[in-house]
Amino acid sequence: MSRQRVQQLASEFLARADATGWFEALYAEAGADYAKVPWADLAPNPHLVEWSVRNHLTGEGTTALTVGCGYGDDAEFLAKLGFRVVAFDISPTAISQCERRFADSQVSYQVADLLKPPPAWQQNFALVFESYTLQSLPLALRPAAISSISRFVAPSGQLLVIARGREETDALGGLPYPLTQVELAQFESLGLRQQSFEDYWDDENPPVRRFRVLYTRSN
Ligand SMILES: C[S@@+](CC[C@H](N)C(=O)[O-])C[C@H]1O[C@@H](n2cnc3c(N)ncnc32)[C@H](O)[C@@H]1O
Repeated sequence: MSRQRVQQLASEFLARADATGWFEALYAEAGADYAKVPWADLAPNPHLVEWSVRNHLTGEGTTALTVGCGYGDDAEFLAKLGFRVVAFDISPTAISQCERRFADSQVSYQVADLLKPPPAWQQNFALVFESYTLQSLPLALRPAAISSISRFVAPSGQLLVIARGREETDALGGLPYPLTQVELAQFESLGLRQQSFEDYWDDENPPVRRFRVLYTRSN
């Protein structure tokens, strides 16, 4: 499925004031043809893998949450590192494809809406991993989404965010809408402390500007 088709689907749903319905429509249209989903690499995010190797990340039985998990490769990667992983997505089709791809998985795959998450997830995860969900949401929904993500982080827990990055003054263009540092600063106003901030161009062709940010909750 072309990026153009994705834009078309998103625009159709946004015109009906349904900002997230297009994800399920897209996954349903793709069916088992995963290549039709433009962000589906069917491999763990290389920016997560590189970061985890460099930081000797191990789960040792602690809990992790993967936000907007898509087809589940990042969740499976974290499970292999020893985390007890919950992974969720708003799309029932994406979740059933995760369960089909990883039939023997230890990951708990769940259909849930980031904007209305189960109350039991509040401050419940030692590691929260968010990649590319925020950038796929309209700007108006981001404060609520950021607030929701921040609440998942347990006391002394960590949040890793990987996203496309832009300056406030950059043109927005089409989906995905890269994040700004002003948007990310909301995590700090919600009780998380920024531990590291990386701003770099990846090795895609053409290169994409990425932000990779680690936060911790001190209490
Ligand atoms: C751009 S994709 C990224 C998928 C995956 N995180 C990755 O990095 O490949 C965004 C994902 O977030 C999911 N999503 C969007 N809005 C959501 C919401 N409100 N709650 C849960 N998942 C959501 C979509 O269904 C989609 O799978």
